[in-house]
Amino acid sequence: MLVAPSILSANFLDLGSEIRSICEAGCDYVHIDVMDGHFVPNLTIGPLVVKEVAKISSKPLDIHLMVENVSFFVDMFAAFKPEFMSVHIEEEKHLHRLISHIRNYGIRPSVVLNPHTTEEALKYIIEDIDMVLVMSVNPGFGGQKFIPNIYKKIQNLKDMILSTNPNCLIEVDGGINQHNIELLKEAGADIVVAGNYVFSSDDYQKAILSLR
Ligand code: DX5
Ligand code: ZN
Repeated sequence: MLVAPSILSANFLDLGSEIRSICEAGCDYVHIDVMDGHFVPNLTIGPLVVKEVAKISSKPLDIHLMVENVSFFVDMFAAFKPEFMSVHIEEEKHLHRLISHIRNYGIRPSVVLNPHTTEEALKYIIEDIDMVLVMSVNPGFGGQKFIPNIYKKIQNLKDMILSTNPNCLIEVDGGINQHNIELLKEAGADIVVAGNYVFSSDDYQKAILSLR
């Protein structure tokens, strides 16, 4: 299992040292939640901060855009060369075009499903993407409770991926901890995002290893 700590739960007054700590603790990606106060009822960080994070992170960035007018933000954050850029299917009218646009930057495109969005919505885009990000909470905040019907969605998605694009990864985001990690692996998850679980622990390395 690959692990991407979400810096949403980091100490923002000490962000540089938090980023270094999770990288040294062996995370695989640094997950960055960009929120605009419109698509979700919260505001987080913009390009000035992400630019500095990109400079000091020794691990690739995994940017999750929870914003309206998403193509504008894709262009804004592409400059920081993340490994993955995830865009919500609920927001974008011209998803196929946007996915190609992300790939043209040399960034691996990923599509996000909110908890209520069916995996079948990916049928005509799954072959064009490198990852599906499955939300296991309603996006907007860290530290929320995991929604259990997500297991079935991941299983269905895994079946779809195996028959269409076996290299496509499944990432799961929200409420992940030591209690649900095994079932997520069994269901077919490849990467987990963990904010509260990692950053509220006393030992980041131990927390990351326990998920892996
Ligand atoms: C929620 C974000 C998540 C969040 C996960 O909108 O997309 O990445 O930070 O945090 P935890 O692991 O605390 O649920
Ligand atoms: Zn996220």
